[in-house]
Amino acid sequence: MRVAYYLLPLVATLLRLCGAIELNVNDTDSIKNASATIAYGLSSWYQNNQSSTATTAIGTFNSPLYWWEAGAVWGGLIDYWAYTNDTSYVPTVQQALMAQVGPDNNYMPPAYYSSLGNDDQAFWAIAVLSAVEYGFPIPEGKSQSVYLDLAEAVFNTQWPRWDTTSCNGGLKWQIFQANAGYDYKNSISNGGLFQISARLARYTGNQTYLDWAEKTWDWMSAIGLISPSYDVFDGTDDTINCSRIDHTLWSYNPSMLLYGSAVLYNYTNGSQLWENRTTGLLEECARTFFTPYPNSTDIMYEPACELDQTCNYDQLSFKAYLARWLSKSAVVAPYIMSSVNALLTRSAQAAAQSCSGGQYGNTCGQKWYVDGYDGNYGVGQELSALETVQSLLLLRPDGGNATRRYPFTSSDVQIQVAVNNPTSTLSLPPKTAATARSTSSATKASSAVEANSVRRSCVTAVYIWTTIAMYTVTMNMISMGQLIER
Ligand SMILES: *[C@@H]1O[C@H](CO)[C@@H](O)[C@H](O)[C@H]1NC(C)=O
Ligand SMILES: *[C@@H]1O[C@H](CO)[C@@H](O)[C@H](O)[C@H]1NC(C)=O
Ligand SMILES: *[C@@H]1O[C@H](CO)[C@@H](O)[C@H](O)[C@H]1NC(C)=O
Ligand SMILES: *[C@@H]1O[C@H](CO)[C@@H](O)[C@H](O)[C@H]1NC(C)=O
Ligand SMILES: *[C@@H]1O[C@H](CO)[C@@H](O)[C@H](O)[C@H]1NC(C)=O
Ligand SMILES: *[C@@H]1O[C@H](CO)[C@@H](O)[C@H](O)[C@H]1NC(C)=O
Ligand SMILES: *[C@@H]1O[C@H](CO)[C@@H](O)[C@H](O)[C@H]1NC(C)=O
Ligand SMILES: *[C@@H]1O[C@H](CO)[C@@H](O)[C@H](O)[C@H]1NC(C)=O
Ligand SMILES: *[C@@H]1O[C@H](CO)[C@@H](O)[C@H](O)[C@H]1NC(C)=O
Ligand SMILES: *[C@@H]1O[C@H](CO)[C@@H](O)[C@H](O)[C@H]1NC(C)=O
Ligand SMILES: *[C@@H]1O[C@H](CO)[C@@H](O)[C@H](O)[C@H]1NC(C)=O
Repeated sequence: MRVAYYLLPLVATLLRLCGAIELNVNDTDSIKNASATIAYGLSSWYQNNQSSTATTAIGTFNSPLYWWEAGAVWGGLIDYWAYTNDTSYVPTVQQALMAQVGPDNNYMPPAYYSSLGNDDQAFWAIAVLSAVEYGFPIPEGKSQSVYLDLAEAVFNTQWPRWDTTSCNGGLKWQIFQANAGYDYKNSISNGGLFQISARLARYTGNQTYLDWAEKTWDWMSAIGLISPSYDVFDGTDDTINCSRIDHTLWSYNPSMLLYGSAVLYNYTNGSQLWENRTTGLLEECARTFFTPYPNSTDIMYEPACELDQTCNYDQLSFKAYLARWLSKSAVVAPYIMSSVNALLTRSAQAAAQSCSGGQYGNTCGQKWYVDGYDGNYGVGQELSALETVQSLLLLRPDGGNATRRYPFTSSDVQIQVAVNNPTSTLSLPPKTAATARSTSSATKASSAVEANSVRRSCVTAVYIWTTIAMYTVTMNMISMGQLIER
């Protein structure tokens, strides 16, 4: 049977094609297990914690990834710890969060000035806010308020940048005049200040934060970055007094605002105003960032770049924040739980089935609506899959099984538990989505989800195929041997 050795590499290749991360969305252990596998894949991209790493590089990813994305990854891994209780990455995250605070303890490290915009800084503040809200372990020798101090310090650098020299206000994208984009007033920067303010308001009860959350919302709305139907456009040009808008829809813009709105809905004990905004943004997210084709109902995608394969490194990670903020919103605004659960459950199944690439058959792809792995891998792809899968731990109808589910508030803030849940429910797109771009009539609603069982039959098929091949080759060799003997 020496012939079997020749077949081994081929069999291995075929089995790898059959890999995928198993995910049973109804089983907490399975969700945790799948999350652990993806978290491991994500963290294997991180190299900048060696003894040889330059001090300024600790806690960052190398180019082509920008500084901000590291802040986003640490935020995702804080949530991973909070939801699963897996402490594997806690020391790495603590080291990273402390390494990039900069000389003034406000996430303004001079080494990254050339790329450091208000939104970049915000993503690090958002990471430490999750550390505050879930009680992430404090690094040795640091004050108990270290994370809250950092988040407040970012807020206190941002509000003075509010620029009334044009457009009647707003935050510019860039902090430094020398950086391209200094003239741009965009949704992710203003939305970042909005979400930071909202979360600080809820956590601390301090009115200053609530005032700033309202101010940023009102400005974005007045200038047209938030439309009456809750589309959130990318940005506007302050050299023309914000008279024209870039209407591109990126998933991180409305989801950034969604979580801030849901937090304020919660903090105001369920006010009608913030309920309206929460519902409106949820509906906008559902209508714009899911269901690319009739065969992929409720599967998340990035419409502005994913279908034509033009996403840059930043954009490849945006689905992570959409999943993160949808799920966190459902915790503080429980009336949207079932809608969010439907969207994220199907997306998580689709993401997991895409995680079948690479040497170990568990590298995640970019497009979740295609069958299996699309060959497109990286930090953004891993982070998007991780955040979507782990978000399920917040969303179980039985109350959820995340270790830490509810974001804390400081002890003097009281929040009322919803007595009368709002009646407003989301009208999800119908199963045969009207938004579909495909003219194909072959609607197979659950095809991506079925891929997991397809993959299991694939393993069986490879096994049967190999057995037949070995038999055939062996028989041929026997008859060849007989020929030679004759
Ligand atoms: C998970 O549970 C729900 C409700 O009990 C059920 O409708 C669904 O089919 C289950 N999904 C899977 C993949 O087992
Ligand atoms: C949540 O955890 C409880 C206790 O461990 C378990 O009984 C229940 O089945 C879990 N729920 C889900 C949806 O996994
Ligand atoms: C977790 O995943 C590994 C590898 O896929 C598997 O061997 C193990 O049985 C899984 N554990 C659970 C609890 O699902
Ligand atoms: C660097 O971080 C990774 C990911 O958490 C970890 O596995 C590794 O042990 C760390 N290395 C050092 C030298 O701290
Ligand atoms: C979380 O893990 C710690 C040990 O690391 C353990 O003491 C604690 O009980 C766990 N909590 C839950 C809710 O599983
Ligand atoms: C600039 O835009 C703001 C906000 O729309 C408006 O209030 C202001 O009057 C405009 N200024 C000029 C000079 O057009
Ligand atoms: C509220 O927050 C602002 C901004 O951080 C701070 O300047 C102010 O002192 C705080 N007020 C109270 C009462 O803590
Ligand atoms: C919410 O309810 C709590 C408890 O009843 C109350 O202390 C708090 O002032 C309320 N908050 C608002 C904004 O009404
Ligand atoms: C909330 O929306 C409803 C329905 O559109 C509207 O009638 C109501 O005035 C809104 N309330 C607030 C406070 O915005
Ligand atoms: C769904 O349809 C799109 C567009 O035709 C296609 O690219 C994709 O591969 C299909 N997905 C599955 C799982 O068949
Ligand atoms: C606020 O969030 C908590 C969970 O943190 C939830 O129990 C409560 O019902 C929420 N309040 C409202 C008004 O929905």
